[in-house]
Amino acid sequence: MNQVQPIALVSGATRGIGRAIAQGLAQKGVKVLLGARNLEAGREVAAQVSTPDAQVEAVELDTTSQATIDALAALIGEKYGRLDILVNNAGISLDFYPDLSVREKLSKTLETNVVGTAALTDAMIPLLEKSRHGRIVNVSSVLASFTSRGEEGWIYEDVAMPTYQASKAALNALTLSYAKLLADRHIKVNAICPGLTATDATNHYGDRKPEQAAKVAIEYALLDDAGPTGIFVDEQSKLGW
Ligand SMILES: NC(=O)c1ccc[n+]([C@@H]2O[C@H](COP(=O)([O-])OP(=O)(O)OC[C@H]3O[C@@H](n4cnc5c(N)ncnc54)[C@H](OP(=O)(O)O)[C@@H]3O)[C@@H](O)[C@H]2O)c1
Repeated sequence: MNQVQPIALVSGATRGIGRAIAQGLAQKGVKVLLGARNLEAGREVAAQVSTPDAQVEAVELDTTSQATIDALAALIGEKYGRLDILVNNAGISLDFYPDLSVREKLSKTLETNVVGTAALTDAMIPLLEKSRHGRIVNVSSVLASFTSRGEEGWIYEDVAMPTYQASKAALNALTLSYAKLLADRHIKVNAICPGLTATDATNHYGDRKPEQAAKVAIEYALLDDAGPTGIFVDEQSKLGW
């Protein structure tokens, strides 16, 4: 990592796991740009998660809006001249919305989880290149792992969330491709699974807290130069694609 204060952008950081990632990075002294669709809401969260050493800054970001992505890339370029860490956390899951058709569910989910993530990543690559120690962390899910899905007795073998699982499988494919494309530009790209966590997305199911879920994302955001690229992990171990 740089000797100077690293700069991180976290998408979808107004609540849930993204908020906890932003908070955890700030606690490690990172300058965090907290991506928020609603800038006012983002500013409130940024004030809550700032530390005396690391003032968190809310920035407007809707990954389905190319205009907000382009404006944010320009803002980061002008104000900071580089980006060290991109955490692609923004994500949605619409499988349990019975009023939406499969076309609506799939196109909306892919637009946010895949197209938006790829567009944001592409826009940030020139800034990450300037870091010389760029890190991209894609927040994925073990539910998309073909390896795990093929294992008999797997803990989630009864889960079928067609649009969400397809979107995260596509995100995993992007992870491998970007890891390859960016390997000689000092940018490491990895996918992480935060684990089943009590957030709005899961109707606060279970007792795993966002702070715990954020740990693996933070670890891969702060990888040193000897760390891996192009892998998929959860907090315990490496996952099969
Ligand atoms: N919770 C789990 O058990 C679990 C497990 C595995 C993976 N994940 C993944 O972890 C990530 C975070 O999940 P979560 O549980 O924390 O979800 P969450 O509580 O629903 O929060 C989602 C966040 O994403 C933002 N967001 C949604 N669409 C966006 C867009 N188009 N542009 C920018 N931001 C957008 C939301 O912003 P607003 O506040 O503006 O709506 C919110 O900040 C997701 O990628 C999810 O798939 C979650």
